[in-house]
Parts: sequence; C-alpha cells; structure tokens
Amino acid sequence: MEDHMKIEDIKQIAVIGAGNMGHQIATLCAMKGFRTFCTDTDKPTLDKARVFFDDYIASRVDKQKLTAEEAEKVKASLSFTQDLKEAVQSADFVIEAIIEVLDIKRVLFSNIDKISTQAYNPGNKQFLYRELQDCRCNKEA
Ligand SMILES: NC(=O)c1ccc[n+]([C@@H]2O[C@H](COP(=O)([O-])OP(=O)(O)OC[C@H]3O[C@@H](n4cnc5c(N)ncnc54)[C@H](O)[C@@H]3O)[C@@H](O)[C@H]2O)c1
Repeated sequence: MEDHMKIEDIKQIAVIGAGNMGHQIATLCAMKGFRTFCTDTDKPTLDKARVFFDDYIASRVDKQKLTAEEAEKVKASLSFTQDLKEAVQSADFVIEAIIEVLDIKRVLFSNIDKISTQAYNPGNKQFLYRELQDCRCNKEA
C-alpha cells in the first residue's frame, strides 16, 4: 500500500456514498480542484446530492466567491453516477462514506479492489480498516 502517497499524486477521487457525509465531501473535493466521482446505490440520494452541489456552486457565484468561469470548471469536475466501476476505475483515492454496516462495507471494499488495483482506499475508521483487511484481495496491511 502507498502509505507515502503525496497529495500531488491525487488527481482523481471517488466518493462512495452520497448521503449526509458523502455529498459534502464530494463537493469539497471538486471545489479543491480534484476530478471527482460521487456514487451511491440509491438514485434519489444521488439526485439530491447533485441538486445540493448545483445550488451550492450557484450560491458561491451569487456571493462573488467564484466567477462564472470558475463555477463552470468546478461543475465539470464532479460527476454523479450509480456505477461503482465508473467512479472507481481511474481514481487515485477512494473515500468511503456509506452506511455503517460492516457486512455492506466488506462487500464494497472487496468490489473496489476488484475494480482498481491502484486506488488508495484507507477506509474512514482505523478499526473498520482492520476488520476489513481479510476481504481485500490486492492491498497489503
Ligand atoms: N453523519 C455524520 O455526522 C458522520 C460523522 C462521522 C462519520 N460518519 C460515517 O460516515 C458514513 C456515512 O454516514 P452518513 O451520515 O453520510 O450516512 P447516510 O446514511 O446519510 O448515507 C449513506 C449512503 O450510503 C449509501 N450506500 C449504502 N450502501 C452503498 C453501497 N454499497 N455503495 C454505494 N452507496 C451505498 C446509501 O444509499 C446512503 O445514501 C458512516 O460510516 C458514518 O458512520 C458519519
């Protein structure tokens, strides 16, 4: 695992889960200039996340914190998709923000590892990360 990964190495981020945490994390990643994919299994949640993002960007333009040109660039950098493969396949960094159910997280981490051998995916909690190690097929501890 790339424990020494530098922020400069990260160009593309996948945010898995677009709920309370995920949609805001994805918005922040896009605002900070990362090509970002936000994915969720639930379409209404994904639609809500897209509306939040569009409204947030519009409000930044209204407050003159972003120019129209900058807003277009940020908008183009965030994609919403239900397709895990599309979100993860070219990601340098994966941020997991799905529901707190260990068995579902285990399946997800396993699927991420099958899609991508390159993405660095630390998990969002150290204890979960340890729990999840045995379902991960191409990452070292
Ligand atoms: N909300 C908080 O304040 C908070 C704070 C710290 C940590 N967390 C952690 O962050 C994670 C997310 O929390 P939340 O509040 O955003 O939850 P949430 O319930 O609002 O959102 C979770 C989302 O995950 C989606 N999901 C479920 N299974 C999925 C899968 N296999 N692939 C893709 N998407 C899937 C659901 O459809 C849902 O939209 C949890 O692990 C939680 O413990 C939350």
